[in-house]
Amino acid sequence: MKVCVTGASGQTGSIVTRKLVERSKGFVAVVRSEHSKAKLLKGTPGLKPGDVLVCSSFCKDELVHAFQGCEQLVILTSAMPKLALSSLPGVIFSKLMGRKGVRPSFYFAEGQSPKEVDWLMQREQIDAAVAAGVKHVVLISSMGGTQPDHFLNTMGDGKILLWKRKAEVYLKESGMKYTIVHPGGLLPHPGPVKESSAGGLRELRVGVDDEFLESEERTIPREDLAEVTIQCLTTPEAVNTSWDLVSRKEGVGVTFTSLSKLLGAAESLQCDYSRPALPV
Ligand SMILES: NC(=O)c1ccc[n+]([C@@H]2O[C@H](COP(=O)([O-])OP(=O)(O)OC[C@H]3O[C@@H](n4cnc5c(N)ncnc54)[C@H](OP(=O)(O)O)[C@@H]3O)[C@@H](O)[C@H]2O)c1
Repeated sequence: MKVCVTGASGQTGSIVTRKLVERSKGFVAVVRSEHSKAKLLKGTPGLKPGDVLVCSSFCKDELVHAFQGCEQLVILTSAMPKLALSSLPGVIFSKLMGRKGVRPSFYFAEGQSPKEVDWLMQREQIDAAVAAGVKHVVLISSMGGTQPDHFLNTMGDGKILLWKRKAEVYLKESGMKYTIVHPGGLLPHPGPVKESSAGGLRELRVGVDDEFLESEERTIPREDLAEVTIQCLTTPEAVNTSWDLVSRKEGVGVTFTSLSKLLGAAESLQCDYSRPALPV
């Protein structure tokens, strides 16, 4: 079955692309610019230029063309917050004064807000997938969608997790098979505290409705998320499910190998979408 991956040049998208190359699966990697295409080709041994498609507008017509002949779609696009450098002196000063919880500010470039990228552009992708005859969509979203006052919802013009959640609901109602994954914080993390981000060394945990948000173990290496994403394509238990995904610390528990086993042991694989209210 041919797979299309959007956001293929992103940090997780490029690992998913590498794994598809390694497993000799038929695929199309969709990126938004020639620059991203060149970056992806340079960083992915064995990837052929013909396997990478540039979609510069990400509108439905362009995407229908990109998705032709694909039975499955992996969505890994996301709005990308930018750090407001002007907020750093205040953060450093607060740290020096021993004040905790003062965070830097973030913003989104014009036309790249969560509403535009995580809702409207993902809706275009879902509509295009239906039109192109895609059968199954794996959507990588984020943990935290049940909490409107979550820190991530306050960045820029805000609500990134709620706009992502709106796209999830749209996918569920599209008629296609779906798998919606809410990973916890992705590793490597840009912050000052460095946690190992190696893949294949951790136990993974599946839950629903942000149950892990209060837990100490609420991160996951992108390498492990990419492996789970790939296994979603071939695991029947993953079809028509939505769940949260985190990892335990390295060396604790049983290292992840099989998504089928992991999902088979889960108590629930359906998040409750009746709350919170989503933006209009
Ligand atoms: N960071 C975290 O801790 C965290 C936690 C939980 C969930 N997540 C979610 O997990 C997923 C993977 O995260 P990541 O950090 O690996 O991704 P990432 O590196 O931020 O990649 C985002 C991708 O989206 C593409 N993109 C952004 N704006 C676009 C636009 N306007 N049109 C088309 N493509 C666009 C980017 O293209 P370019 O490569 O061309 O820039 C890039 O490939 C995302 O959905 C993210 O929100 C992240």
